[in-house]
Amino acid sequence: MKIAILKERASGETRVAATPETVKKFAALGLDVAVEKGAGETASAPDTAYAEAGATLGTAAATVKDADIILGIQAPDLKLLKGAKAGAWVAALFDPFTSRDVVDAYAAAGFEALSMEFMPRITRAQSMDVLSSQSNLAGYKAVLAAADAYGRAFPMMMTAAGTVQAARVFIMGVGVAGLQAIATARRLGAQVSATDVRSATKEQIQSLGAKPIFVENVAGIEGEGSGGYATEMSPEYQKAQAELVSSHIAKQDIVITTALIPGRAAPRLITDAQIATMKPGSVIFDLAVAQGGNVEGSKADEVVVKHGVTIIGYANTPAHLPADASALFARNHYNFLSAFWDKEQGKPVLDEEIGNAIRLTQGGKVVNERLQGA
Ligand code: NAI
Repeated sequence: MKIAILKERASGETRVAATPETVKKFAALGLDVAVEKGAGETASAPDTAYAEAGATLGTAAATVKDADIILGIQAPDLKLLKGAKAGAWVAALFDPFTSRDVVDAYAAAGFEALSMEFMPRITRAQSMDVLSSQSNLAGYKAVLAAADAYGRAFPMMMTAAGTVQAARVFIMGVGVAGLQAIATARRLGAQVSATDVRSATKEQIQSLGAKPIFVENVAGIEGEGSGGYATEMSPEYQKAQAELVSSHIAKQDIVITTALIPGRAAPRLITDAQIATMKPGSVIFDLAVAQGGNVEGSKADEVVVKHGVTIIGYANTPAHLPADASALFARNHYNFLSAFWDKEQGKPVLDEEIGNAIRLTQGGKVVNERLQGA
């Protein structure tokens, strides 16, 4: 059984899907691991470390030749997969709702595409959940990037020259990234408040020492759909939320937005008119910029200044922490394959619940329920 790891080729991608640590673990399961030369270079994992861990290093073509499983961060271009075994598994991020053409092409090429972002949010799959592992790092990095762009300090400082006030930080969307953003901003000494449409997050916000800012007395406040994800909110709720945000945001120095709704464009949370009410020198980091953005006017990988407010958003925030993001993503891959390892057959065999959730293509067809009719 051969497993292949290619160098990521998407622009701005610095991560790698296996690290020397996981190569060693795969080798211990009896797998042959092939890694493309230079695959880990941008993630502080040199070829020599992969070789020491037991990988064979080579060109892309040699790496995929006769591979049974290809692991990626982002789905590799099919041109690179020529020579892999018929029906080989490719486990990576496929962005299935927006890149349907890629999914169709994988089906036509006869590969079994496994979408790591469709991993179900169930307890036993937590260690395989790349959305969580990467969002956690993204929430942390967003706060650091915002702090860096902010012309003032985060903590309150009492100095001989006078007092520096603590920064006021507002986190919008308290999922995995938002919780880490709250914790990071608190560690830096900011005064933190946060909001979400899911009322279950109120207690989590408080337990991190931040202040919850919530729309009250409007139907639909639960906002929780399947798998703990948010649903789209009613027009009344959206209006009440906009009013609440308007009054709160004018007093904030830093705003981090993280709101996402699976399979849809990110909800718009901050308008240009609201930005205009913020103090000059304030900073907004839009973590949803790649999904359409929570903030009017935010642009991926660009710093936009509007009404004196700096708006930042990275197209790929975890790629700004390549070593840790790769280490966690690679462990997610390993935890996934090893959990389904069938010793007798010498290969992984997926169960129905997780298999049906993440399998996009099989036997030349698109088989995933979430993509039917999409
Ligand atoms: P996400 O990345 O899909 O969205 C980020 C946050 O934005 C969510 O908290 C969402 O409620 C919020 N949001 C959406 N629309 C909004 C709006 N209009 N205004 C304000 N906030 C809005 O969420 P993420 O981080 O993937 O977490 C989703 C859920 O999954 C959470 O309940 C989390 O605890 C749960 N989870 C469960 C896991 C497991 O059991 N294996 C693993 C990871 C997360």
